[in-house]
Amino acid sequence: MNKTFNIGKLQFKSPTVMAPMAGVTDSAFRKMVRQRGCALVCSEMISANGLCHGSVKTIRMMEHTDGEKPLSIQIFGAKPANMARAAEMAEQAGADIIDINCGCAGKKVVKTGAGAALMKDRRVSESVLRAVCNAVRIPVTVKMRSGWEPSGEDALLLARIAQDCGADAVTVHPRTAKQKFSGKADRKVIADIKQALSIPVVGNGDIRTAKDAIEIMNQTGCDAVMIGRAALGDPWIFSRIRARLSGTKFTEPDLEMRFSAIKGYVSDMVAFYGETHACRIMRSRLGWLLKGLPLASRRREALTGITREADAYAILEDYQDQLLEFFRTTDSTKPITKSA
Ligand SMILES: Cc1cc2nc3c(=O)[nH]c(=O)nc-3n(C[C@H](O)[C@H](O)[C@H](O)COP(=O)(O)O)c2cc1C
Repeated sequence: MNKTFNIGKLQFKSPTVMAPMAGVTDSAFRKMVRQRGCALVCSEMISANGLCHGSVKTIRMMEHTDGEKPLSIQIFGAKPANMARAAEMAEQAGADIIDINCGCAGKKVVKTGAGAALMKDRRVSESVLRAVCNAVRIPVTVKMRSGWEPSGEDALLLARIAQDCGADAVTVHPRTAKQKFSGKADRKVIADIKQALSIPVVGNGDIRTAKDAIEIMNQTGCDAVMIGRAALGDPWIFSRIRARLSGTKFTEPDLEMRFSAIKGYVSDMVAFYGETHACRIMRSRLGWLLKGLPLASRRREALTGITREADAYAILEDYQDQLLEFFRTTDSTKPITKSA
């Protein structure tokens, strides 16, 4: 079983990657998961056209801090020249890897020929992939779905094209574009691609526990796992996987560690976006980080109304005190995070 993995010349200490997630994996979130054992983090998807048109908001999405590195920056688009220029801009902005989005199934993206639409059109996808691989010196990776048909033929073909164009790894989320997030990820598609390729393959989709991660690596032979939704409320999943792979015991975070992670995230969000904007974004995000904790619903609701950084700390500290009392009086031995 892999304990490390490589993408091009980059070597990672554990085979774990945080999935790119629009509206989630910004600088503060990436730092939080990197500090909790994730080997490689990825930006949200960033529009190549937006970068080429000089959109300040889009360019800002590439900003990051040292605590997140190594960092993969994901770009999307269907125009080879713009994708190549965007990749150069991401390399100049400090990316360690460029990831090409061939999986987004959102209508707005697909109708421009980008994202999962690239899995339909081999001629365009090959031009895009070749243009990006030729434009930068850093490794290039390609993230895809199984395609438009459940057989996974589209993915196998695109994975081969990626390898031929010079990509250094592919990530496979084996659901069709039509499925979006419904149904189950079909691991056979990952196994077939792993068999056919010589570059590393990262398996993605429905990994909820460290046990799932080991299982998918065993079943498909994939070189690493990418985790999305499960890490939203449980950034420790990466450390848990690492511990399992190295046969060491993982000590679940106690209340102090959990709240210190959440407060660190609040402070990094404010440093990045400024207080007003950060609070607006955090209203819908902080609740995730209380996942699995008792008596959380009232606190979650309170967090949806924060307007100042101090509001967040006050709610969190009050809740932490309440939980300390709760665990003391109920003598609960129930783990506060999943241990599987
Ligand atoms: C809210 C959300 C945003 C996402 N944004 C992106 C994105 O920007 N780029 C991308 O390639 N995939 C994106 N995805 C897909 C994830 O990267 C991942 O492939 C998918 O969630 C399956 O992994 P999981 O079962 O571990 O969540 C997104 C998924 C979610 C739920």
